[in-house]
Amino acid sequence: MVFKKKRVWHSLPGQEPTELDKRVMYWENKGKEVPSRDLIKTPEQIEGIRRSGVVNTGVLDEVAKHIHAGMNTLEIDQICYDYCTAHGAVPACLNYEGFPKSVCTSINEVVCHGIPKEEDVLQEGDIVNVDFTTILDGYYADASRMFIIGKTTPEKEQLVRVAKECLEIGMEAAKPYSFVGDIGHAIQKHADKYHYGIVRDLCGHGVGLKFHEKPDVMHYGHKGTGMLLVPGMVFTIEPMVNMGTWKVFIDADDEYGWEVISGDEKPSAQWEHTFVMTEHGVEILTH
Ligand code: MF3
Ligand code: CO
Ligand code: CO
Repeated sequence: MVFKKKRVWHSLPGQEPTELDKRVMYWENKGKEVPSRDLIKTPEQIEGIRRSGVVNTGVLDEVAKHIHAGMNTLEIDQICYDYCTAHGAVPACLNYEGFPKSVCTSINEVVCHGIPKEEDVLQEGDIVNVDFTTILDGYYADASRMFIIGKTTPEKEQLVRVAKECLEIGMEAAKPYSFVGDIGHAIQKHADKYHYGIVRDLCGHGVGLKFHEKPDVMHYGHKGTGMLLVPGMVFTIEPMVNMGTWKVFIDADDEYGWEVISGDEKPSAQWEHTFVMTEHGVEILTH
């Protein structure tokens, strides 16, 4: 007979279990999903991801300086590529699973993974998500921001603001030895107040040594579900908030099959940071 549910967490061989070991094993004994030890980054790895985060923030700051009505999204791609490579780093998106550019630029009803192109010229009133991921010395940092082009409608302004609040509220809910589901629950509760749709088909993720690691960080759901959050884990929170339905589809006109559109083609907004869990709460690595 084979025991199907093998223990994930063990204390290190020949060593007394630490406080952290005891807490993780306590929850694993209660049937909760716990991280494997390789999801807990070493201080050296966290410093590497932090350095990558500094470049990543520099890329988005550079976009903030130059973004304007009349500019096309291929120009944004060039700004990102140039800044990133000038700082000794590599754009993670470029050629990632067939993605053809260095950054995702998602305008209005494009939820995420918008591909920069010359034809996409930014118009007054557009809301645009710019999502960039840096690889520096092998370490990944991932973040995105919304940009409002000139003046937009009060409805779109509110969507952008509430999406940012969703990220902040998710971040507050992410406490050591709480669960990934606590984050999603808090985010969904906030979006519900506005009858906005929280996208379910895409989620945040562990990050740092690879682009997408465990756990999946859902932006909806129930408290106490999903993986236990342990100090040393590095992950993103990146709620996609739709003005209408939470449903999405892949743009049939996108030859690459990447661009995600809101189900009713109403506007969508997203903000993202990379975080490290500490003994006290999360710290942003992409400030
Ligand atoms: N940066 C996105 C994320 O937050 C992933 C983009 S993958 C790409 O997870 F290939 F579209 F660039
Ligand atoms: Co991202
Ligand atoms: Co991400």
